[in-house]
Amino acid sequence: MSTSFFTRKPILQGDLVVLRPFTENDVEDMAVVLADPEVRHLTGSVRTTEEASNAPAQLSPEVRQWYASLAARGDRLDLAIIERTTGSCVGEVVLNELNEADACCNFRILIGAAGRGRGIGTEATRLVLDHAFATTALNRVELEVFAFNPRALHVYESAGFKVEGRLRQTFTFDDQRFDTIVMSVLRGDRTPSRARVHLVPLAADRFPAWLEQSRREYETDLMAAGEPADKARHHAEETLDRVFPARAPVDGHAVFDITDENRTRVGYIWVGRDQEGKDDSWWIWDILIHPEHRGKGFGRAALELAEEHARSEGARDLGLSVFGSNQAARGLYESLGYETVTATMRKRFRPD
Ligand SMILES: CC(C)(COP(=O)(O)OP(=O)(O)OC[C@H]1O[C@@H](n2cnc3c(N)ncnc32)[C@H](O)[C@@H]1OP(=O)(O)O)[C@@H](O)C(=O)NCCC(=O)NCCS
Repeated sequence: MSTSFFTRKPILQGDLVVLRPFTENDVEDMAVVLADPEVRHLTGSVRTTEEASNAPAQLSPEVRQWYASLAARGDRLDLAIIERTTGSCVGEVVLNELNEADACCNFRILIGAAGRGRGIGTEATRLVLDHAFATTALNRVELEVFAFNPRALHVYESAGFKVEGRLRQTFTFDDQRFDTIVMSVLRGDRTPSRARVHLVPLAADRFPAWLEQSRREYETDLMAAGEPADKARHHAEETLDRVFPARAPVDGHAVFDITDENRTRVGYIWVGRDQEGKDDSWWIWDILIHPEHRGKGFGRAALELAEEHARSEGARDLGLSVFGSNQAARGLYESLGYETVTATMRKRFRPD
């Protein structure tokens, strides 16, 4: 059974919503959402207008148990859609039916009356797709939508889904038959996000401050990987002094601000020759997306642009190192085609 893609449950931050694993309060809010006649009709849960309209806003013990079981499921990702302004849960967005071998899964979303028609569905769909494509090797996300649901079709199309076909007369409601539309979005369909991201060479006057930040981050990573504090500090200093002896940019290394379409800085990336003396082997020495900008596809886009930079400088290959515990980053690198060439392993005898 597929289990690993969705083991890590994220909190995804948007402008209108936060997507997060369900809390008990969110599950309470879902009672109202799941009883909403439009939700019941448009998700195909009922067969008649009467059934759609007469649902109690209460959850059965089985449904509560179902929500409680989701955190442990690595084969699916169920996130509550929390409206920022109210803090209440207005719906859910789900990636399920994972087929890990073929890197495919299904998508579905539902939002109750209190949340609809204000851009929430569009943002939630984009956030979860960006997260899935950035942190897993997923290649295809598919969905089915009734042909009588033009709003959902529009939202899916604007998030990048394409219509693949029509299943005729698959659903009967109030004794009439309706068609289902099949849609999907592929990893490759979403490359336009690259156009939103720019690599801007770091200005010389900001270089010393960046160097200090990079050193601190590296030192923290080394300590997290088990190096004692004094050794980690020395190791980080020594590495940065070797590459930037004059504490300034040098030939064969480039440090870029990663900026979004508004030229806001969302992180940085340092790419340069590796230190083994081979001019055509290059290395991603450091990449960081600031926490508030994570999960939006910036890391992937920046890495693709850095790859182009390295190629244009004559690189034959591009390497990077990642700590084993950083599952999100490892998923991203693997999905971009990076392969593990060495692995350092460590067993802990006691917690820190
Ligand atoms: C489908 C759903 C997730 C969309 O979320 P939402 O927050 O209501 O949608 P948004 O406000 O983000 O966007 C709605 C978009 O559809 C457009 N739209 C609304 N009604 C439309 C219609 N009848 N025809 C075409 N487009 C329509 C809006 O103009 C808007 O587009 P824009 O952003 O380009 O202006 C939500 O309405 C929902 O859960 N509905 C009930 C359950 C459901 O249908 N689930 C999907 C089952 S497949």
